[in-house]
Amino acid sequence: MSDTKILLPEKEIPGQWYNIMADMSPLPAPPLHPATKKPAGPDDLSAIFPMALIEQEMSAERWITIPDEVLDIYALWRPTPLYRAKRLEALLKTPAHIYYKYEGASPAGSHKPNTAVPQAFYNKKAGITRIATETGAGQWGSAIALAGKMFGLDVTVYMVRVSYDQKPYRKIAMETWGATVNPSPSSLTHSGRKALESDPDTPGSLGLAISEAVEDAATHTDTNYALGSVLNHVLLHQTVIGLEAKKQLALAGEYPDIVIGCCGGGSNLGGISFPFLYDKMSGKEVRAIAVEPASCPTLSKGEFRYDFGDTAGLTPLLMMYTLGHDFMPPGIHAGGLRYHGDSPLVSQLCRDGIIEARAYHQISCFEAAVTFARSEGIIPAPETSHAIRAAIDEALICKEEGKEKCILFNLSGHGYLDLAAYGDYLDGKLIDYEYPEEMIRDSISRLPVM
Ligand SMILES: Cc1ncc(COP(=O)(O)O)c(C=O)c1O
Repeated sequence: MSDTKILLPEKEIPGQWYNIMADMSPLPAPPLHPATKKPAGPDDLSAIFPMALIEQEMSAERWITIPDEVLDIYALWRPTPLYRAKRLEALLKTPAHIYYKYEGASPAGSHKPNTAVPQAFYNKKAGITRIATETGAGQWGSAIALAGKMFGLDVTVYMVRVSYDQKPYRKIAMETWGATVNPSPSSLTHSGRKALESDPDTPGSLGLAISEAVEDAATHTDTNYALGSVLNHVLLHQTVIGLEAKKQLALAGEYPDIVIGCCGGGSNLGGISFPFLYDKMSGKEVRAIAVEPASCPTLSKGEFRYDFGDTAGLTPLLMMYTLGHDFMPPGIHAGGLRYHGDSPLVSQLCRDGIIEARAYHQISCFEAAVTFARSEGIIPAPETSHAIRAAIDEALICKEEGKEKCILFNLSGHGYLDLAAYGDYLDGKLIDYEYPEEMIRDSISRLPVM
């Protein structure tokens, strides 16, 4: 009988992150300065990021050493377990082998601390005393609150209003780790005040919260901005997930046919899949699937072009799949997947057919999450439920075709602070939002013309 949990000792925490830019061709187009529309150089980014992270953002080195101070903190929860989902396999009666990497094992309950810790470390080293950031579901805010505290940094979080109202426990967790949390839009920034003037009841969006945090950082010299997804250095830090999973699967004598991650800004998907795409780029057969909500289908229905990362147009322009930077997605429970854009790395890899994208409605994702919880035990984050839906669907295809494929998915976070969403699902109160074609067409019509 094979093991249910495949564990690695602490000394097997990867010593280096994997940088996929060393192996990609073509590379993503460079970020552009929001005013001049010329490629943004390190100096353009230095108002809000420390130079060490800017260098990582632009690096072409394949392997980047993880500092000892970061490894010390990673050791609190890494390496995370890899599970064989034997009970789910039995329930589905599938010949597929399903594995999941459990990133909910971190103190903040998701993969987000994998990048929050190095970001806090490099900021502290650069003499910064405060971090301003946004959060959607509250997972990123929790991660940076925790990481900031570990390095003695103050943390100010702009939390998307709909999540602030839906998820009071995330706010309390952030405050427990010492952060200050403001609902976004807030009256503390110009961007927030402007949004409140045009709609005082707006649910907010990640793009708007980013505008507030960037504005806060850009107007205070002691403060930098930290982003929980999208940027190259964030995906770089997340590759510890896939690097560990690769070793763990090798211990089980397996290699995945399919690697699956839910996709908001692309960081957990990049984290689990890039170390396998490294092999794909030298000819190995492996599929990577990005799973997104049907109500915010960035990769599946967006346009591939330059757009701002935030609503107010303060960030550099990124070449990515986008639904338009002022697109306000419906208030689905997977708050971390409500982002108009996507990582330029994931976008380029999708464009080139290296990553596949698909979108699901939230009710079928909750159905999959409940099936998972009732067989494997863990209650997953609503974001993660999208990856589980895809993993189950792929396992059912294996059953139909009688194929014994190996499916790996990232269990990017647990859902123990998202139980209200499960309550709504169990009470039959969830609704599926139709693909908001009109709204998307409208917001895409306002994209910057290059
Ligand atoms: C548990 C969890 N999974 C996934 C995501 C989506 O982000 P990303 O696509 O960057 O992994 C989030 C974002 O908040 C999250 O909290």
